[in-house]
Amino acid sequence: MKRAILICSVVLLIGGLSAYQSYYRSYAGEAQAAPTAGERIYLENCAACHGERGDGKGPEADRLKTKPRDFTEGIYKFRSTASGSLPLDEDIFRIISRGVRTTSMLAQLHLSETERWAATEYIKTFSQRFKTEKTPEPVSIPNPPQPDTELVALGQRMYTDAGCNQCHGSDGKGDGTSAKELKDDWGEPIAPTDLTLKPFKSGSDPGDLYRTISTGLNGTPMPSYGGVLTPQERWSVVFYILSIATRERPRAMMGLVGDEVQGMRIDMRAAMAGMMGGRGMRDRGGGMMDRNMRDMMKDMMGR
Ligand code: HEC
Ligand code: HEC
Repeated sequence: MKRAILICSVVLLIGGLSAYQSYYRSYAGEAQAAPTAGERIYLENCAACHGERGDGKGPEADRLKTKPRDFTEGIYKFRSTASGSLPLDEDIFRIISRGVRTTSMLAQLHLSETERWAATEYIKTFSQRFKTEKTPEPVSIPNPPQPDTELVALGQRMYTDAGCNQCHGSDGKGDGTSAKELKDDWGEPIAPTDLTLKPFKSGSDPGDLYRTISTGLNGTPMPSYGGVLTPQERWSVVFYILSIATRERPRAMMGLVGDEVQGMRIDMRAAMAGMMGGRGMRDRGGGMMDRNMRDMMKDMMGR
């Protein structure tokens, strides 16, 4: 039964893929000068959501719950750099390779590493900030301490002392007193994450959570605690969150979560790469870990 569903989906995907390609051809056909590799890759794989001009207004954007990023202001949520700063190239590359779980942004593993770097360079051209600002320093992520009940108890205290509960709620369910009517910098409503549910957008490893807490998420109400909590305190909050993140988000077909289903409909090639193992999975050489994608594949294959 499962297998039949998988085969049906693949057939549907291939049908959709060729429709999508002819759509892309007519769309890209308007371009005058020969496009660079980065531009071609972008138009082919990203513009449907992020828009031809990188303004987040691609033809599919309306249908998505979490809107595609507008790249023109250089505001990036998922960074290893201080709050307000530009991301590192490695941050952009990591997101392209891993995707943003629970959103339509799937891991782009049908693209080779070289192609993903070309896409990284290309989306930087949408914002002047990358030309005028110096490359920021990454926030350091020290080795995590050994988690024990004492550390988790400290984390629980810190969670309240630092005011995480005001947005994320006293038991982490995302229903704090300030949770209602939050907006992001692009004017869209945004809910504080339910921290009892996995997976998280930018990864669920301790280091991923440490990075999010240290740097905040630019463009959203999620502040940075880099200058507020000591590294030990940040690790304690990380392990407190992991101690309450015991539930899984509701899954749709093939274990997809939330807008990932829409992403799969729109981004056939990325979805196929996920199902088949993906070119990028083989040639990544073990350096960059595509953890989110592995996580998603486990879900798709029934673990
Ligand atoms: C199916 C729609 C879709 C496609 C196709 C898509 N994206 Fe995205 N992308 C999104 C959405 C939605 C988000 C926002 C996630 C969020 O805000 O939580 C996003 C976020 C991102 C981010 C994170 C920015 C940040 O704030 O840190 C990067 C980088 C990115 N996309 C690059 C790309 C590139 C490059 C491609 C093509 C190779 C691509 N995307 C293809 C929907 C898409
Ligand atoms: C002013 C409200 C606010 C406060 C205070 C706040 N957050 Fe958040 N947080 C948010 C919002 C909104 C998001 C969702 C961002 C998104 O979905 O793009 C978020 C997202 C997160 C995520 C999920 C990241 C991911 O990858 O999915 C974590 C983890 C998190 N916050 C931890 C914390 C911790 C720990 C604290 C306190 C030290 C805290 N937050 C304080 C609003 C807040």
